[in-house]
Amino acid sequence: MPFNTPLGGSLVDRVLDAKGAEVLKAAVTDLPVITVSPSEVWDLKLIATGGYSPLKGFIGERDYASIIAAGRLADGTPWTVPITLSVRETTLTAGDKASLKDEAGNLLGAIHIREVFDRRLEAESLGVFQTADDKHPGVARIRNAGQTLIAGQVDVLPDALPATEQGLLYRPADVRAEIEKRGWKTVVAFQTRNPIHRAHEYLLRTALETADGLLIHPLVGETKSDDIPADVRTECYRTLIDRYFPADRVILAALPAPMRYAGPKEAVHHALIRRNYGATHFIVGRDHAGVGDYYGTYDAQQIFETYDDLGIANLNFEHSFWCKGVDGYATSKTSPFGPEQRVFISGTRLRQLLGKGELPPPEIVRPEIAAILSKYYQSLD
Ligand code: ADX
Repeated sequence: MPFNTPLGGSLVDRVLDAKGAEVLKAAVTDLPVITVSPSEVWDLKLIATGGYSPLKGFIGERDYASIIAAGRLADGTPWTVPITLSVRETTLTAGDKASLKDEAGNLLGAIHIREVFDRRLEAESLGVFQTADDKHPGVARIRNAGQTLIAGQVDVLPDALPATEQGLLYRPADVRAEIEKRGWKTVVAFQTRNPIHRAHEYLLRTALETADGLLIHPLVGETKSDDIPADVRTECYRTLIDRYFPADRVILAALPAPMRYAGPKEAVHHALIRRNYGATHFIVGRDHAGVGDYYGTYDAQQIFETYDDLGIANLNFEHSFWCKGVDGYATSKTSPFGPEQRVFISGTRLRQLLGKGELPPPEIVRPEIAAILSKYYQSLD
């Protein structure tokens, strides 16, 4: 088998052809409009291009309830994050068709409404995020969104889909074609929402020792306001890969998904999406997709033990750090030295240093990357 098959067996494609696009554009004035929020626009892109295969649209109530309660679609397929379309109020009902527009009024596509149902805010918060605390950014997002959910298959206009995101390939079919071209059989994918620091680099190099190729797959959709924007991060990724990685063994592509900060549930979600992009292995390190203190350091690894049918293998890594005793990167599994030998710098201190134009220790962030981040932080003043 060449690399990996998508979940459900084939890649979903809900992008209209030229004829379909023409028909939709001609009919659009007769259709009611649903305004799609920025985070739902990212989800729509992933549904359309197959990143969320086997989903062909926004999910219905049976799947919604099953995802929340069991981490699976109603038919048993593993799936841990509800992909929903929300409105504040509506007169639309099953059988209606509506156009989908973004907040600026651009036409994105259409939805064939199969169901209209209520969000179960408390159950969704606890089932997906394991907390109902509205300080959690994922909980806050669903709490502030509409509480009525519209389900149904979507059709998306080709013009609503850019050729690239941040100049990077982002459609699963394009990434799969690239993997095929390179002849890789095993592909390890790396999710990140941060600039690559040296601990990340350690995981990447270690993983690359045994896989045919590496898919560095930063999430470029909506993130928290204090996360570093995708364009700045992309400059970091490019710089790092150009200088420090063998180009023929790495693909840098974008994941156009919003970040949910759902820890373990999002780790499985991230893995399933990467299977759709062709990956056979997925890196899960410390507090994957976590935020604050909501999840235990290795919860996102433990959840994989409760699934045996994801069709993609998790590659777990302990918390890695620069160890002065070892004089290199290590983890508590590979270093005999105690915590006093670890070089540690908090995120806050790092931002302070970069904001003042001072460079953090090169063991933590490479100087080339620090220079890019420093320019960004100084531009915020
Ligand atoms: S995440 O929200 O996308 O998980 P981040 O970009 O920081 O955040 O992490 C990307 C991946 O690297 C995740 O799998 C995370 O667990 C892992 N990771 C980040 N830092 C470390 C570290 N010091 N040691 C081990 N794994 C790490």
